[in-house]
Amino acid sequence: MNLLVTGAAGFIGSRYVAALLASDARDAPRITVLDKLTYAGTLDNLQLDHPRLKFVQGDIRDADLVGKLTAEADQVVHFAAESHVDRSILTASDFVLTNVVGTQVLLDAALRHGVSTFVHVSTDEVYGSIESGSATEEYPLDPSSPYSASKASSDLLALAYHRTHGLDVRVTRCSNNYGPHQFPEKVIPLFVTNLLDGKKVPLYGEGLNVRDWLYVDDHCAGVELVRTKGRPGEVYNIGGGTELTNKELTGLLLEACGAGWDRVEYVEDRKGHDLRYSVDWTKARDELGYRPRHDFTTGLAETIAWYRDNRAWWEPLKRRVAEERA
Ligand SMILES: NC(=O)c1ccc[n+]([C@@H]2O[C@H](COP(=O)([O-])OP(=O)(O)OC[C@H]3O[C@@H](n4cnc5c(N)ncnc54)[C@H](O)[C@@H]3O)[C@@H](O)[C@H]2O)c1
Repeated sequence: MNLLVTGAAGFIGSRYVAALLASDARDAPRITVLDKLTYAGTLDNLQLDHPRLKFVQGDIRDADLVGKLTAEADQVVHFAAESHVDRSILTASDFVLTNVVGTQVLLDAALRHGVSTFVHVSTDEVYGSIESGSATEEYPLDPSSPYSASKASSDLLALAYHRTHGLDVRVTRCSNNYGPHQFPEKVIPLFVTNLLDGKKVPLYGEGLNVRDWLYVDDHCAGVELVRTKGRPGEVYNIGGGTELTNKELTGLLLEACGAGWDRVEYVEDRKGHDLRYSVDWTKARDELGYRPRHDFTTGLAETIAWYRDNRAWWEPLKRRVAEERA
């Protein structure tokens, strides 16, 4: 079986591919990774010498390349995206081009070449802010940021390819991920690496925004369950991590890094900052047997230890971001 995985030089896709490559099952898929290597992608995230892995650098909007790769693929798992909300507030065009147009190019190619299953990886942010309770898959889409609006658009396109053309599309919507290999401008790696460097951490507003934190490998296990056991045309929420305000999260990170609140710099709140996300993942649990396996305290400690031990991975990436902003 040939699996085309987009965006797997980034955080979540690379962990997903690593898990599949670690399997010695007889039916373990051969994997082609298509990734543009934007600022967020790095080859250091991939085991390039693995015999079941092929890497292709390219853009998901390149219809010729995507056509060639989908013709060779039995299934597609689509992670590639512009994924940073703050960047989408500064400039939204890459978000529309990659997340919306790129997804449409992939869906077209999947349809043309008879791909048997297309997993579209999306986010809980498409439901918008939820003050109480949790969003089921039927909850209306109400995205706030250009990032979440572009993801909601691509979800609807993916589902439309199922309804209109009968393409076997499955959509996942997951809560906030954390773990090793996350690009160091997202909040947990940014705060940890700043603290390791003796710097301050920027906390938005009063730090009262709530996020559900899920260990990245639990998300990847959920995506794999959807690929192998999910139903065509269905959406599956993936969550069940730990709900924390940003202030609570900051307190845990300060404590783990042996730093005090004097290292926190309160900064102007993000524009349109959603107060809380929360997904109801009963469907994935009951239908697919999905269940998060990683306890937050252990997962966070392992994540911090990974950043402490892998400066060679994140220092060049942080330097690149600093140069880009200078
Ligand atoms: N990070 C989270 O907490 C989270 C939560 C839920 C869902 N998601 C979704 O999971 C997916 C992966 O997120 P991530 O955090 O790993 O993102 P990431 O930013 O770490 O990685 C994205 C990858 O996509 C690649 N890419 C970007 N534009 C491309 C293009 N035009 N063509 C080919 N490749 C391109 C980048 O080079 C990078 O390797 C995204 O679709 C995101 O919306 C993320």
